Amino acid sequence: MSPLELVRAYHQLSKHQPQRFAPGPGQLDWATQPAPFRRYAGARLIELYQQPLEQSPPYDAVFAAPLGQPAPLGRASVSQLLYDSLALSAWKEAGGSRWALRVNPSSGNLHPTEAYLLLPAGSLEEGALLAHYAPDAHALEVRGELPAALAEQLRQALPAGGLLLGLASIAWREAWKYGERAYRYCQHDLGHALAAVAIAASALGWQVRLLRGIAEERLDAVLGLDRPGFHEAEHADCLLWIGPPQAAEFNLPECLLQGLAALELDGAPNRLSCQQRDWPQLARVQALCRAPALPAAPWRAGPGRALADNPGLALRPILHQRRSAQAMDGKAGIHAELLLAWLRRLLPAHSPVPLAVSGEPAQVDLLLFVHRVQGLAPGLYWLARGDGQAQGGLREDFLWQRVDTELPLYRLLQGDARGLAGFLSCGQDIASDGCVALAMLARFDAALQAGAWRYPRLYWECGQLGQLLYLEAEAAGLSATGIGCYFDDALHELLGVADSRWQSLYHFTLGRAVWDERLSTSPAYPEHHLPPL
Ligand SMILES: Cc1cc2nc3c(=O)[nH]c(=O)nc-3n(C[C@H](O)[C@H](O)[C@H](O)COP(=O)(O)O)c2cc1C
Repeated sequence: MSPLELVRAYHQLSKHQPQRFAPGPGQLDWATQPAPFRRYAGARLIELYQQPLEQSPPYDAVFAAPLGQPAPLGRASVSQLLYDSLALSAWKEAGGSRWALRVNPSSGNLHPTEAYLLLPAGSLEEGALLAHYAPDAHALEVRGELPAALAEQLRQALPAGGLLLGLASIAWREAWKYGERAYRYCQHDLGHALAAVAIAASALGWQVRLLRGIAEERLDAVLGLDRPGFHEAEHADCLLWIGPPQAAEFNLPECLLQGLAALELDGAPNRLSCQQRDWPQLARVQALCRAPALPAAPWRAGPGRALADNPGLALRPILHQRRSAQAMDGKAGIHAELLLAWLRRLLPAHSPVPLAVSGEPAQVDLLLFVHRVQGLAPGLYWLARGDGQAQGGLREDFLWQRVDTELPLYRLLQGDARGLAGFLSCGQDIASDGCVALAMLARFDAALQAGAWRYPRLYWECGQLGQLLYLEAEAAGLSATGIGCYFDDALHELLGVADSRWQSLYHFTLGRAVWDERLSTSPAYPEHHLPPL
């Protein structure tokens, strides 16, 4: 089989069906539950600040383009970037257990995504650093100090005032619970993290762009993930430029990449589980989907068309208050204007932050299950986000009635879709009890024509859309939840999808949450580390 056929086979195998779930552990083995935090024992710590949330730009201002003058690169701005994107947001406690929530969401709250920073000399300290972000301490663990010659190569390679941030995934964290399907969840989570980082960076006037010119496989060595001592595999997914907006991608010279790969590293990676189980299809698809060195994509997307739907609302409290609903009330409704505002936010033209990060065109459309939206009859709707014709490959007897002059939103079928939405999301009531549920459908064949590496990036796009929807719901005083558990082919059957032109890659629900009163909440960090004035 060709790599692409193997990826398609993985996709098929990792589908949930009403009569059989994708291969997984069945029961959770609590004795082998992976530790939620990667730490490097013996690595020097640089504590970061918690920036007070009262200082915040307006919510609506950050999506069209990086906002205002770029912040000077330093401990205060790096602290703020991470605090607003990948930090803890609260601790929860119930029945003797205690767990942390983060600014970025994660399937099963398992958090496979790790972050590494390459900081040029003079930004945090005199020397240049490779550091791991430890969200439990809101601190950087210094893995390596670059020798002067290497630090100089980094300085010359990077535009002034910015840094590089690598994201990596520890698949075992998700596979412990979800088995073979876990690769998908790692990629969803990566998309959420990409969006969280891009939005936090925009508030600092910084652009976030993926460096496409380095083959993904090489990033393991650059971030120090190929060294001995890792009990659980951790693989790099992407390297991001974060800093003052640039018009075009720059290259990292070969000598710099080689120097970083040979950098002497401090700190021993912690062991996350006493034992782990192999999920062979997951490991294979992970290896097959790594992107080769790609041609540069244009970096100057936008500025987007700014929206002003939430006047007076501050961004940063929304980022930190975002929570997944575990139940929806089944009663609250919204007005059609609010739904249209949420959908507008998902269009590439309005939200280059975060949608332009990867440089890939939009390949994901939405199937909406409208339950309780005043001014829009209950039923199934389609939002065409991409450029191509939506109808091809879908049932021909759908209505395809355009319902808005500005938005490419079409009514497909009228009727009560609550039962259907719940059933298709593995019987989860959150999908029927919200105001709206949705499925994200990717132009699968079209995207995969470029190669197997496009497979994970489709999930990244879904995760980015999910992050925008979480924030939009929060901004409206409502809540949302990402839904990774759904019956793939049952949904395709509903749409008349008989081939693989369209594949559903993520579900979502939005509505009024019912909170579990038995859970108590405490602050993310014990004390405030405020920046010096
Ligand atoms: C990719 C993804 C898939 C998810 N799937 C489900 C799901 O099927 N059902 C559910 O109730 N919650 C789901 N969630 C919500 C997570 O359980 C939630 O994000 C996690 O517990 C952390 O809580 P928080 O979002 O409040 O920070 C999903 C979240 C993500 C990011």
